[in-house]
Amino acid sequence: MRRRLHLIWTSVKMSLICGLSGEVPEDPVVSSISGGVYERRLIEKYVDEYGTDPNNGEALAKEQLIAIKAPKFVKPKLAPLAGVPGLLKTLQDEWDSVMLYNHTLKQQLQSTRQELSHALYQHDAACRVIARLQKELAAAREALATLKPQIVMSNGGGDHRESMAEDGDIGQPMGIPEPVLKKIVTRNEQLTAERKQRGKAVPEGLATVDQIKGYHVTHSIPSLHKTTPGGITCIDIQTGDYKQVVTGGNDGMVVVHQRDPENVVASCKGHTGKINRVAFVPTKNVVLSASDDKTFRAWNVEDGKCLHTFGIHRGAVKAVSVHPAWDYVLSASLDSTWAFSDIATGRTYRLESDPDNLGITAAQFHPDGMILAAGTSRGIIRIWEIRQAESAANFTDHLDEVVGMSFSENGYHLVSASKDNTVQVWDLRKLKTIKTITMPDNYKINDVVVDQSATYMAVAGTDLKVYRCKEWSEVVTLKEHTADVTGVRFGPNASFLVSSSLDRSVKYFSE
Ligand SMILES: *[C@@H]1O[C@H](CO)[C@@H](O)[C@H](O)[C@H]1NC(C)=O
Ligand SMILES: *[C@@H]1O[C@H](CO)[C@@H](O)[C@H](O)[C@H]1NC(C)=O
Ligand SMILES: *[C@@H]1O[C@H](CO)[C@@H](O)[C@H](O)[C@H]1NC(C)=O
Repeated sequence: MRRRLHLIWTSVKMSLICGLSGEVPEDPVVSSISGGVYERRLIEKYVDEYGTDPNNGEALAKEQLIAIKAPKFVKPKLAPLAGVPGLLKTLQDEWDSVMLYNHTLKQQLQSTRQELSHALYQHDAACRVIARLQKELAAAREALATLKPQIVMSNGGGDHRESMAEDGDIGQPMGIPEPVLKKIVTRNEQLTAERKQRGKAVPEGLATVDQIKGYHVTHSIPSLHKTTPGGITCIDIQTGDYKQVVTGGNDGMVVVHQRDPENVVASCKGHTGKINRVAFVPTKNVVLSASDDKTFRAWNVEDGKCLHTFGIHRGAVKAVSVHPAWDYVLSASLDSTWAFSDIATGRTYRLESDPDNLGITAAQFHPDGMILAAGTSRGIIRIWEIRQAESAANFTDHLDEVVGMSFSENGYHLVSASKDNTVQVWDLRKLKTIKTITMPDNYKINDVVVDQSATYMAVAGTDLKVYRCKEWSEVVTLKEHTADVTGVRFGPNASFLVSSSLDRSVKYFSE
């Protein structure tokens, strides 16, 4: 048996060629008698016919054939392929498969590229979404920031300074900085000293009562503002050389007009609502305007350009007043707040609300700059101390909206005009009304002003009236305007009066 196996193994090693056909068998078997290799199909037929092994002629049965297990997928290489044509064919096949492989690689590359570009596109889109969300977040934060003071106010909290200090990072007023306070105090001491020195002396060149009685229109500037919506609503005079006036109109325009040589110096365009108050900033060539459009603005007189738009108020701004240090502005709004802001930087240092949430309709700095008066829609006038923003006094004699106020240069009188058809004179030392002037029936008061010498008071309304201060007696009534007079200012030493009117004219009155 051992010998036989050896024999078989030798024949398998020697050749795997069929002993009958001479070809490589597809289903090779080996004879256990002679060790010869045969194609099964052929040897079985041979055994059927002869019953012997063709190799040595000994008897052979089919059961004596042993199958050779060769791996089915390895195709035998045919001997002829070893020749040159075979080599060529092999190379051809090799080349074909490389080309096929290259093709699949290219296809994979293509699809990978597509996947990559898709991923990049998604990344890009995600980045854009993130950017948009960040923008929306910023906008929401800003909206919240502007909303906060309103919420505090509508909660009825008059004292919202603490919460504002906390919100300092969102640009809310932080209170008046130390250097500004110092400036205010210094200016206050200086002005108070000057006032004391002046005493009650009346300037020599001051117009007399008789002179004022003879005042009539000596100059009229027609149609400074548009016809629709027509009418000049307010006026202020430049107190340097008294040659320029600034007017505000129902048309939202702020116009600076010069007397001599006569021309329009600046037409300031920008407000989108009626102008309620205008004010010259002495020595700075700047005018201020308060408007129904909820903003107040600072304008450069030289070119009519807007320097700052103050958007701190949430309601129509009814008043602006320039601090006697000339760097700061007081503004007041129907949203029941007043604000103290820096004209040069546009920063608001303080925003205070009325303790009873009354809309503020008039506001004025005291000529010494330490206190201010704020008149409300119900007629209450509050005196505020500026440094601590403390309520110093309440004047409650008016029965209706305060429309205009003016501090006397003597430092202790405040005159106020109200829709209740009265002008009241308050004494700040006694904290009470010392005089009530009742206007004729159906009179409409718009403005009140005391002259620089504290001697005369002018009331603008249905007509123009001048009063003498000490006696509070009427000096003259000027009826030249053809519609309501909306504002009035004195010239130096009361040498003239200038007024604005809904008849769209500015008129100068003098001897
Ligand atoms: C496979 O494809 C690349 C790109 O088209 C080509 O540069 C390269 O020659 C190709 N390879 C073969 C072996 O053809
Ligand atoms: C008022 O008149 C006096 C004397 O004529 C003059 O010295 C003074 O400067 C005048 N006041 C103003 C504000 O012009
Ligand atoms: C003025 O009135 C308000 C509220 O009506 C009050 O909070 C404030 O203390 C008053 N001020 C003075 C000085 O009485």
